[in-house]
Amino acid sequence: MIIILFILVCVGLSNGANQKIPLQGRKGQWHLLLNNTGVVGMHMALTYENTVIMFDQTEAGQSSYKLRKRFNGTMCTRNQHDLTDSTCFAHSVEYDISSNRIRPLRLDTDPWCSSGSFLSNGTLLQTGGYHQGAKRVRYYRPCGGNHHQCDWIQSKKYLSNERWYASSQILPEHDRVVLVGGKRVFTYEFVPKISPNEKSFNLPFLHQTYDRNSDGNNLYPFIHLSSDGNLFIFANRDSILLNLRRNRVIKTFPRIPGNGSRNYPSSGSSVLLPLDHKDNFKKVEVMVCGGSATGALNAARRKRFIEGLRSCGRMVITGNKHIWEMDYMPKPRFLHDMIILPTGNILIINGAKHGCAGYDNARNASLEPYLYSPKKRLGKRFSVLEKTMIARVYHSSATLLPDGRVLVAGSNPHETYTFHNVAYPTELRLQAFVPHYMEKRYHTWRPSNLTIEKHAIGYGKEFNVSFLLGKKPSDDVRFNVYSPPFTTHAFAMNQRMLILRCKRMVRSSKGWVHAVLEAPPSSVVAPSGYYLLTVVNGGIPSLSKWIRFAHA
Ligand SMILES: *[C@@H]1O[C@H](CO)[C@@H](O)[C@H](O)[C@H]1NC(C)=O
Ligand SMILES: *[C@@H]1O[C@H](CO)[C@@H](O)[C@H](O)[C@H]1NC(C)=O
Ligand SMILES: *[C@@H]1O[C@H](CO)[C@@H](O)[C@H](O)[C@H]1NC(C)=O
Ligand SMILES: *[C@@H]1O[C@H](CO)[C@@H](O)[C@H](O)[C@H]1NC(C)=O
Ligand SMILES: *[C@@H]1O[C@H](CO)[C@@H](O)[C@H](O)[C@H]1NC(C)=O
Ligand SMILES: *[C@@H]1O[C@H](CO)[C@@H](O)[C@H](O)[C@H]1NC(C)=O
Ligand SMILES: *[C@@H]1O[C@H](CO)[C@@H](O)[C@H](O)[C@H]1NC(C)=O
Repeated sequence: MIIILFILVCVGLSNGANQKIPLQGRKGQWHLLLNNTGVVGMHMALTYENTVIMFDQTEAGQSSYKLRKRFNGTMCTRNQHDLTDSTCFAHSVEYDISSNRIRPLRLDTDPWCSSGSFLSNGTLLQTGGYHQGAKRVRYYRPCGGNHHQCDWIQSKKYLSNERWYASSQILPEHDRVVLVGGKRVFTYEFVPKISPNEKSFNLPFLHQTYDRNSDGNNLYPFIHLSSDGNLFIFANRDSILLNLRRNRVIKTFPRIPGNGSRNYPSSGSSVLLPLDHKDNFKKVEVMVCGGSATGALNAARRKRFIEGLRSCGRMVITGNKHIWEMDYMPKPRFLHDMIILPTGNILIINGAKHGCAGYDNARNASLEPYLYSPKKRLGKRFSVLEKTMIARVYHSSATLLPDGRVLVAGSNPHETYTFHNVAYPTELRLQAFVPHYMEKRYHTWRPSNLTIEKHAIGYGKEFNVSFLLGKKPSDDVRFNVYSPPFTTHAFAMNQRMLILRCKRMVRSSKGWVHAVLEAPPSSVVAPSGYYLLTVVNGGIPSLSKWIRFAHA
């Protein structure tokens, strides 16, 4: 006879006994992982093989990863030419999380200030860059940290326009991306093209928001795919909703308050707040935080560093009432990353307080991350976390790892690798910020041994997961999925979290919990591809496991 001990609704497992988890006042820790990544982690992306791709620019000259042989096979000798020849150095590496090691990757053209998105099969589609690289498309197909057989592959097909400082978003259909903007490029285009004569589309909004006295202030536009299939585009201080199928702007949102700009080189950041099954993923809310003050770029060129913006705006982009709800960070900030943690809170990390983006344009690095809790009352949402000793200013980045840590790399506000006599030297140390929820004291609450019965799940389909919840189930067990972003220049492209519906949950005698979850309803809500699934028990996340949503 099978005895099922508890059959519970999905809101709780504690059976009335209220297990309050003491989370207040915990600030997390910093761990130094490597002293030398070889290459500045200007761009980063986590692959489903649990490696992180990092790259900077091929035209930086010497990196700190010297090659014995060029990728074209010729030896790198000790003669004067080779000691400084850029092709004798790696400009991209793959970091293997479990072994904590890097290996060099080959780049043929310059991907500096480019963009990227993961396709549905987990291959990274990386687009644009500088000079010969500006119209190039590159693929990285992950094959695991130890295999050493995968590398960048440059496509023979070109982009329609140069995409230097453009943004990329994966789309619900045709397994392709949209690229928006670029330096003095006021268009968008799709990659790959469906037909050979498909060109780019004009987007006057990018022209209108271009601030010619300040290098644009609208580069790397913040783009987010709304759950109605339209594309939200934020540039400088303004935002629109674009229907990509009809090439039509269908909404113009109110201007965000604040005394400056939000996009490069003002370099604030933006995040799509977690989407929730409770409203069928219908409510979509974006947040934009920080940036630089008006005039910051010209002042920085004269070595005057103006205080950045403290303000953050939150706006629901669906429905028909659009108001920026304003809030204030503890200190001004720009050049920061905003990473959604497995708990659904937002980590604001890296950056600086005075100046703006660009070479040597920032001062007063922001050493303390902030935690932003979107569900708390206005005025109570920010808390200040543990300070790092390492400044991460221009050309730094951060990315969430499957174990709940946040990888932090880069910073190089110089044209070449420069280690002496500058305010902020080139930074090659790799750190992890370890949030409080990973502390040992929470292990009794932590769901463990998460297993997913099937790894490719069709939209709207039920699927089963099981995990161990030993002693301390709380009233609040959640299941969320997270798409790994491509992070650069303070913007995490394609970052998306969905809180999934749990239909049933059963707890057996040995502490195993079996839950029936429902996959997102469509690729509009969650574009096809790999996501990290996490079980969160009263604010304490499990290790995350990869899951793939696909068209059945
Ligand atoms: C980094 O270098 C410092 C100083 O040389 C050394 O003490 C430390 O162990 C190194 N850390 C790592 C992770 O290699
Ligand atoms: C390899 O690259 C170097 C540096 O760009 C170049 O000088 C050399 O001619 C190349 N050799 C071959 C065989 O392509
Ligand atoms: C994924 O798709 C891309 C584009 O079609 C292809 O180049 C790549 O090899 C595929 N990757 C895998 C892992 O199948
Ligand atoms: C803009 O600056 C004014 C004057 O310093 C200040 O009162 C106002 O709060 C600022 N606006 C925002 C949104 O920070
Ligand atoms: C750094 O911050 C302090 C405190 O706000 C300020 O007084 C100082 O002017 C700032 N430094 C620069 C170079 O802007
Ligand atoms: C849970 O996972 C741990 C570590 O992977 C393993 O040692 C242990 O046997 C697993 N427990 C059960 C009950 O399967
Ligand atoms: C999930 O588990 C339930 C029992 O809890 C079972 O009836 C159902 O068939 C399973 N569903 C799938 C898709 O495996």
